[in-house]
Amino acid sequence: MKKQDISNISKLYNGKNRSELIPILQDIQNHIGFIPKSVVAAIADNMNIPTTKIHGVITFYKQFRYNPGGTFHIRICRGTACHMNNSKILLEAIQNRLSIKDGETDKEGKFSLEIVPCLGACNKGPVIGINNEFYTGVNQKTLDEILSLYQNMK
Ligand code: FES
Repeated sequence: MKKQDISNISKLYNGKNRSELIPILQDIQNHIGFIPKSVVAAIADNMNIPTTKIHGVITFYKQFRYNPGGTFHIRICRGTACHMNNSKILLEAIQNRLSIKDGETDKEGKFSLEIVPCLGACNKGPVIGINNEFYTGVNQKTLDEILSLYQNMK
């Protein structure tokens, strides 16, 4: 991202109230896909909020991330219902197959992995999301097929 773009983004939030910080961060995350640290500095200046407070919010909420992530962003639910349906085994299989852990992106920038507390389909777990697609009732066999599908995509 260019400096000019960052400056333009942060200017959109000039004069905003501090209580609007989370919606602002959500807006940036939705538009760019992540929160560049340089944007944090610009927002801090424009909204007169300490950068430490903004970093605190970003690290507290799992929905925010500092890195752009992979072309295919995998979210695996580790909530109770999915845990009861073996999501831990699926998580380990993903980590082993793609050599990435929670919060990481692979070397090629193709896959990133995020553990989430719920994907809103608890009665159909375990649930995995890849970008905007969601897969329910995933088992090791279907996981293999799903990952192969994405690995073969360019
Ligand atoms: S606990 Fe997994 S979708 Fe809710």
